[in-house]
Amino acid sequence: MSEQKKVLMVCLGNICRSPIAEGVFQHLVRQKGLESKWMVDSAAVAGYHIGKSPDHRALTTMKSNGIAYSNKARQVKKQDFESFDFIFGMDEENISDLEGMAPANCKAKIGLLGDYDPQGERIIRDPYYDRGAEGFKKCYQQCLRSCTAFLEQHS
Ligand code: 4NP
Repeated sequence: MSEQKKVLMVCLGNICRSPIAEGVFQHLVRQKGLESKWMVDSAAVAGYHIGKSPDHRALTTMKSNGIAYSNKARQVKKQDFESFDFIFGMDEENISDLEGMAPANCKAKIGLLGDYDPQGERIIRDPYYDRGAEGFKKCYQQCLRSCTAFLEQHS
C-alpha cells in the first residue's frame, strides 16, 4: 500500500466515543510506525458540541492509557465522504445517519468500527449520560480491539 489511507471516526457528539477511537487509532499508528500509511480524524453527526474538547472522562481515559488528545469537535461534512477511505460509526444510528448524508459520489466505505472487534461486540454504546467513567473505559477497550484488528487486516 503506497498512498496514505484516511479513516474518519464518527459518533453523535464527537466528544465521547469518536475522540477515543481517533486517539486509539493514532496511538497504534505511531506505535507501529505507520504514519505514512494512515491518517485519522473524527467528527460528529450532530452539531451540539462543535468546537469543544472531549468530555473530561474521555480525556482522562485516554491520558491514563498514554494518549494525549487535543482536537476539538467538528461536524461531518459532505467533502468527508469523498476524501476519506473509511468512515466508521459507533452504533447503528450513526450508520443510518451517515448513509443518509452520503452523496452519490461517496468514496468512503461506511461501517461499524465494532465489526472488527475479535470479541464480536459490534456496538460501542454512548456513555455520555452515565454517572461515572466505566462506559468510557469500556469504549476504550472496544476501540483498542477493533482498531488493532483493522490495522492488522489492512497491512
Ligand atoms: P458521543 O456522546 O456521541 O459519544 O460524543 C454524546 C455526546 C453528547 C450528546 C450525545 C452523545 N448529546 O446529546 O449532547
